[in-house]
Amino acid sequence: MITEPLTNDIAYPVPDRERVLPDNIFDTPTDAIQDFAFNSKVASVFDDMVDRSVPFYREIQKMTGQLAADYAVAGTRIYDLGCATGTTMILMDKSISADVTLVGVDNSADMLDKCREKLEVANVVKPFELVEADLNRDVEIENASVVLLVLTLQFVRPLYRERLMKRIFDGLIPGGCVILVEKVLGESSHLNRLFIEHYYQMKRSMGYSNLEIAQKREALENVLIPYRLTENLELLAKLGFTQEDTFFKWYNFCGIVAVK
Ligand SMILES: C[S@@+](CC[C@H](N)C(=O)[O-])C[C@H]1O[C@@H](n2cnc3c(N)ncnc32)[C@H](O)[C@@H]1O
Repeated sequence: MITEPLTNDIAYPVPDRERVLPDNIFDTPTDAIQDFAFNSKVASVFDDMVDRSVPFYREIQKMTGQLAADYAVAGTRIYDLGCATGTTMILMDKSISADVTLVGVDNSADMLDKCREKLEVANVVKPFELVEADLNRDVEIENASVVLLVLTLQFVRPLYRERLMKRIFDGLIPGGCVILVEKVLGESSHLNRLFIEHYYQMKRSMGYSNLEIAQKREALENVLIPYRLTENLELLAKLGFTQEDTFFKWYNFCGIVAVK
């Protein structure tokens, strides 16, 4: 696997072109767009999709790796909820020097298959577990020094988000942290419209056509439910996190770190 050095020497695992297909899932006009699902078709293009659809994705990954290393404690577990194809788990393996166990959780068996394959190719040395579980239901989190939710909470049904975040809070050791990266709504509808337009410009610059952008937006409509940044911060404060800050913000994307 090729890796690309980032500013703090954490190597980002660049999508392997022999294993990752280009994302052209929405490039054909379709009458009835189905709800977006993390199925085998999406899993096979996912690394290209996320790299081209999430602004500063590699920088976000790098910052997540740095912050996780700051809070990781030997003998504890690092959870990656919605681990997808394992890009962040590979980064955790490289960036954290403490002796920890990595736990990847996802409800897509197709994503977990890709994840297992990628962790093997990347020669991950830390002990790891991959768990198939639905975050809308219950998930076991214990002895965690770091819990990651990178572009995942937005897919959890709003009804279950507070319960999940409480579960995470309870499973963190004192001084542990949650790292939450989300697509968010602007704080006003006018700003939201502007932010979305700038986001679509970014997607066009990454090679997506207007048709692909429109069809994916429709597919995600009932599946990806963003909160405002302030709503996410309020939820964390309500649960008892003692410190929280926004470490990344680009229009309608943000990264938050919150410490128990
Ligand atoms: C956008 S991807 C996350 C990307 C990944 N964390 C990264 O940094 O590249 C969202 C992931 O969350 C998973 N997911 C969505 N809803 C879930 C749920 N209810 N329970 C568990 N995993 C879920 C999806 O299968 C997918 O792999």
